[in-house]
Amino acid sequence: MINEQTRLQQSELAEWWAKVQIKVDRMMQAGWTEAPHVSAVGKYDQIKVDQWISGFWPGMLWLLYEMTGEQRYREAAEPWDERMEQCFLRDNHFHHDVGFQFLPTSVIRYKLTGDLDARRRGLFAANYLAGRFNPAGPFIRAWPRDQTGWSIIDSMMNLPLLFWASEESGDPRFKHIAMAHADMVLRTFIREDGSVHHIVVFDPESGEVERYEGGQGHSPSSSWSRGQAWALYGMSCAYRYTGEERYLRAAKRVAHYFISALPEDHVAHWDFRAAADLTDEPRDTSAASCAASGLIDIARQVAPEESALYEGAAARIIRSLSLRYSTLDQPEYEGILLGATGHKPVDVNVNVSLIYGDYYYVEALAKCLGWNRNIF
Ligand code: GLY
Repeated sequence: MINEQTRLQQSELAEWWAKVQIKVDRMMQAGWTEAPHVSAVGKYDQIKVDQWISGFWPGMLWLLYEMTGEQRYREAAEPWDERMEQCFLRDNHFHHDVGFQFLPTSVIRYKLTGDLDARRRGLFAANYLAGRFNPAGPFIRAWPRDQTGWSIIDSMMNLPLLFWASEESGDPRFKHIAMAHADMVLRTFIREDGSVHHIVVFDPESGEVERYEGGQGHSPSSSWSRGQAWALYGMSCAYRYTGEERYLRAAKRVAHYFISALPEDHVAHWDFRAAADLTDEPRDTSAASCAASGLIDIARQVAPEESALYEGAAARIIRSLSLRYSTLDQPEYEGILLGATGHKPVDVNVNVSLIYGDYYYVEALAKCLGWNRNIF
């Protein structure tokens, strides 16, 4: 049962949304042509548009375009997937995260505007992702260089690109690859208790699991909170596209673990098993915002009597982010959420604003305000 306090009021949502819009308007004035990634002191840095985070800023702009109908958001969003596509023509850093990059740009652009070049770019990226499939395992290979057998839980958020490509092209190969990978994730990544591994390394010849890696989490047996969020949201997406109950069951299992591991303020620590006492460990607001949006996705798909559990958890996270961790009252501060953690084991980007944390916060707010489309 969720009580009145748990429910988000339309008035508070409208207030947070209005402040988001003011902040996005300010950030648009920065005129970024490379991709904003990290804001440590109220100013976003920029990295190359072939990096995995390049879709989130334009994705936020497309969301605002659809929510407001204001052309300036569309005009600011449109150049991004054209820039990204150019990177395919030279040595580049693309890998399996093309889903994170092309779903919030080319695919949403095509859905909203019917632009056929955007459709072509989306299908091109899906072909690239499908080309990373290793039938031994089977798994979609994550990263470049010599990491031929590496698969990571973040992959679950890239699969919607393949599901979309099958729907759009009428060619089921993309969906078959996505489901083969998702079924491997069910067998290999998600533990009995609903926690998940970050990295599974396969022998790419035999397809046997060689070992687990801690990756951005504390250790191979720990529970990196953003990885939990990728898994719960990604499995919910896989269910939405396929109707296969096993994916919904997995999404719920990971969600139950996530919710039960949250501290009193409902905003996840960077790893739920980083220490016996997490009091002094950094939070990760990006894990929190991604999970909140994923929990809303689950709530929309379960039976009505089940949805309050997921809606209530999402609402508590969103309120805590808005009131305790946001810069909503500082319009000039680039970055919406404070307290995000990128890669704690190497002490990179700890306690900062991260563009993906900001994106999923805006996405979750839009859903609470009735936005009913899915970018992922
Ligand atoms: N996909 C990389 C990360 O979550 O940091």
